[in-house]
Amino acid sequence: MTDQSNNPHDGEDSDEVNPFTMLLRSEEGNNESVPLQNQLYNLQSIQSAISIRQLPSQGLSFQLWPAAATLVNLLDGRFHLHPSLSAFLAGKRVRILELGSGTGVVGIAAAATLGASVTVTDLPHVLPNIQFNVDLNSGVLENNGGAVDVAALSWGEMKDMEAIGREYDLLLGSDVVYHDHLYDPLLKTLRFFLLGGERKTAFVMAHLRRWKKESAFFKKAKKVFDVEIIHNDPPLDGSRIGVAVYLFVAKSIDK
Ligand SMILES: C[S@@+](CC[C@H](N)C(=O)[O-])C[C@H]1O[C@@H](n2cnc3c(N)ncnc32)[C@H](O)[C@@H]1O
Repeated sequence: MTDQSNNPHDGEDSDEVNPFTMLLRSEEGNNESVPLQNQLYNLQSIQSAISIRQLPSQGLSFQLWPAAATLVNLLDGRFHLHPSLSAFLAGKRVRILELGSGTGVVGIAAAATLGASVTVTDLPHVLPNIQFNVDLNSGVLENNGGAVDVAALSWGEMKDMEAIGREYDLLLGSDVVYHDHLYDPLLKTLRFFLLGGERKTAFVMAHLRRWKKESAFFKKAKKVFDVEIIHNDPPLDGSRIGVAVYLFVAKSIDK
């Protein structure tokens, strides 16, 4: 099973990043593609490693992406102490929803490092590999008070969103802005979770800018959300651009 239709490499304009540098950095921190089936992440904050199975032959949803590595590193550092984020993570068992999880690495790392309850989501055909990775890391999750559920969430699908509910403190996403036909469904999803519920919720998104057209996504997003960059990674090898991490919150009405 492949998901070529969502392939971010397929003949788009102004490719500012060599697609072959888009695969995840290896543990040593260089930017080589990782042909490994299983990738180990050492999480220093909990002195444990998580292991993630990739199935690259099955398509982009089954691989690890640089933006995911950035989010994992942030989670493993002082993520919960970041001034813009601490309000969403303080004083309770945090509930997190991850969009477009792919391999599940970010959600699993979030559950383990924050002792959080995380729902990781993606298209239905991606879920078995995510569940495999959750099960693979069940010991680390248990030891650190984290829990991960896996659920189908196709962006913009009201029945999926309603089934998942709005009881989240934080949404996470890495490398989810890459194909223009997905901008509106993703924005509809963000409006549902960030604007519709009782809880004040934020979306933290790690993003590697590949194409100029992506500015259309941010332009639309800024009509509804306050968007700030909370972290920048240095550029990947051979490119001018690194991963940026954005925080989206509902626009404050008193502006
Ligand atoms: C480039 S991959 C990034 C995966 C993962 N977040 C990472 O950084 O390693 C984009 C992800 O978005 C998911 N995706 C694409 N279209 C989607 C949709 N309409 N609804 C939900 N997820 C979608 C894909 O299945 C894939 O897992």
